[in-house]
Amino acid sequence: MSGGSVQVMNLHKSYGDVAAVRGIDVDIAAGEFFSLLGPSGCGKTTTLRMIAGFETPTSGEIRIDGVDVARIPANDRPVNTVFQNYALFPFMSVADNVAFGLRYQNVGKAEAKSKVAEALEMVRMGKYAKRKPGQLSGGQQQRVALARAIVLGPSVLLLDEPLGALDAKLRKTLQIELKSLQESLGMTFIYVTHDQEEALTMSDRLAVMAGGLIEQIGTPAQVYDAPATAYVADFLGSANVLSVEVVASSESGMVSVRIGSDVLRCRGHAEAGADMHLVVRPERLLLEPTAEESGAIDGTVTRTVYQGATTDVLVRLSTGDELVVRRPSEHSGHHAAGEKVKVHCRPDAMLLLPPGAMESA
Ligand SMILES: Nc1ncnc2c1ncn2[C@@H]1O[C@H](COP(=O)(O)OP(=O)(O)OP(=O)(O)O)[C@@H](O)[C@H]1O
Ligand SMILES: [Mg+2]
Repeated sequence: MSGGSVQVMNLHKSYGDVAAVRGIDVDIAAGEFFSLLGPSGCGKTTTLRMIAGFETPTSGEIRIDGVDVARIPANDRPVNTVFQNYALFPFMSVADNVAFGLRYQNVGKAEAKSKVAEALEMVRMGKYAKRKPGQLSGGQQQRVALARAIVLGPSVLLLDEPLGALDAKLRKTLQIELKSLQESLGMTFIYVTHDQEEALTMSDRLAVMAGGLIEQIGTPAQVYDAPATAYVADFLGSANVLSVEVVASSESGMVSVRIGSDVLRCRGHAEAGADMHLVVRPERLLLEPTAEESGAIDGTVTRTVYQGATTDVLVRLSTGDELVVRRPSEHSGHHAAGEKVKVHCRPDAMLLLPPGAMESA
């Protein structure tokens, strides 16, 4: 397998007055596992369908291996798609389902047979070649759908929530299988999901989308540890996000922000008077003073949620915001509802970020 780079430039798609995709730019390298991650309705499927050729862009450009594909119909693009619903032919055997696409390619009978066998081996379904889809579990059907897509040897495989219908345990197993399959094929995978854990586990890089736009593109570690916006931080894992007003900023990169009647110091760059978002992960908040203080916020415990290894203490602030403070259960002590507490945090544990493209649009 060679090739398979995909470039998307200033891509737009509107349906009447619904702007589904509002100008996205992505540069995906050949052989990359790239995910589009975002909530329902953010434009993931629309983007994928434009790359596949099932949907015509309103404006913008798509290049595959440097070639503008605007005038290339879907079935002539070096691309194949795996959908969430496996769309197998129920009356055909597993082997015939996989062989189906090859009918339209110039492949002899013997070659087709060995290609089908090879594809089924890759997804560990060789034993089931003679069965009908109705005699397979959901996970097995999805493996067959995958075999059917890779047997054609596309340079780019598009996957639209392919594991969405499966239970959590099977999803985990298939995530690992898919990733290793992708690596051994060296094929470019563009993977659509709204599950952040799935995207973080499998991707070389991912784009976090919101409202038809890309908020950030990066490696899983980059988007998780250094989110560009409060939206990304919030979407990628449990984070506390508070609206704050900047009251003062210094040359040294320290900023004072107001939350209700409390003032905190944190790292960041913003002008005095700016409305920003303060992002802090629950595990970085403390209910006792810390050596390097940033100030403390007064609040009232609303409840405690035991989660096995950790315990969440929910604290309501005077602003009405609720903070989650996550502590190891063996150190969590006892905090009854109604107890007044001070929430502490080290300055370097907080991120001051702009709200995000969607909110500021
Ligand atoms: N054919 C269509 N006609 C009109 N509006 C559409 C059409 N297809 C999609 N949309 C709208 O475009 C927006 C983006 O839809 P899209 O299917 O790309 O979202 P998504 O990110 O794939 O969501 P999900 O996670 O729910 O699958 C939505 O607001 C949707 O209602
Ligand atoms: Mg979709």
